[in-house]
Amino acid sequence: MKIAVVGAGLMGHGIAQVFASHRYEVAIFDPAPSALESVGARIRANLRDLGEDMSAADRVTPCAELEQAVCGADFVVEAALENLEAKQALFARIEAAASPQAILASNTSVIPITRIMAGLRDRSRCLGTHWWNPPYLVPLVEVIATEWTSIEAVDKTMALHRAIGKKPVHVKKDVPGFVGNRLQHALWREAIALVEHGVCDARTVDTVVKASFGRRLAALGPLENADLVGTDLTLAIHRIVLPDLDSRPAPSPYLERLVADGRLGMKSHHGFRTWTDQEIAALRRDMFDHLKAALAADAAKLPK
Ligand SMILES: NC(=O)c1ccc[n+]([C@@H]2O[C@H](COP(=O)([O-])OP(=O)(O)OC[C@H]3O[C@@H](n4cnc5c(N)ncnc54)[C@H](O)[C@@H]3O)[C@@H](O)[C@H]2O)c1
Repeated sequence: MKIAVVGAGLMGHGIAQVFASHRYEVAIFDPAPSALESVGARIRANLRDLGEDMSAADRVTPCAELEQAVCGADFVVEAALENLEAKQALFARIEAAASPQAILASNTSVIPITRIMAGLRDRSRCLGTHWWNPPYLVPLVEVIATEWTSIEAVDKTMALHRAIGKKPVHVKKDVPGFVGNRLQHALWREAIALVEHGVCDARTVDTVVKASFGRRLAALGPLENADLVGTDLTLAIHRIVLPDLDSRPAPSPYLERLVADGRLGMKSHHGFRTWTDQEIAALRRDMFDHLKAALAADAAKLPK
């Protein structure tokens, strides 16, 4: 079974790495020569950091042409820019070059797969596989079916992602943001509103999440939690709190203002808060260490 990855950026190189680490041959395409030239080195750096077999990087073949990457593949996953028109154009080329049996997947974060694949001839083999960053440390892959996707394509994709050590879930309706990003951005909307309305500052929002329910979330999902405390208590809480939560159907004006003022977050050292290079490096290190420890804990639970 051969894999093609389209786009060798942050997600594409990591997705290629995971397939290669599980002994799949991977062809990867990116129109940016710098992305293609650096893909091997980036994968090797990740493997070194993880203490994994470096030879996996040799199973990833950079291709300067899209058609060359996808023509022999059984499974094609696109991880290019988050832009509907660009993805539609890419999939038209992918469909023309790929084998008729190949499954075609997009790693879009939030764009409905239906919109991306609408113009294709055979949409029964098209679906979404939404990975999380970094792909080699976060287990979930959302497998998103459209109304046209065949159950065989879903089953094969679920099995493939299980075989590479991922935790695939089947998302049955193709809604914007799928499951994970809808939940995540519902939380972010309220987080921003709390700052906007002066309830607390940004640092406090993050402390509250990280030191409270964020600690539990990896072991106790929201609906497990609701069942734990009782649906009756959950209902009583919702009667009081839901009418007060932010429900504006558009981005917060506070967020719009940050972007208009060039406060773009860590890349401009100023977003909701100011950031020094040391603070950015420490936060990244904390996140990677946390994710690596969680993965090691998962591995320790597997039957020997
Ligand atoms: N970054 C995340 O946390 C994350 C998580 C899940 C999904 N995604 C999604 O994955 C996709 C890729 O995101 P990323 O963070 O890796 O972006 P990125 O900017 O790091 O990489 C995108 C890559 O696509 C390449 N590219 C541009 N045009 C292309 C084309 N026509 N064909 C092939 N490649 C092309 C770029 O040169 C770049 O290397 C996006 O759809 C994004 O929404 C991102």
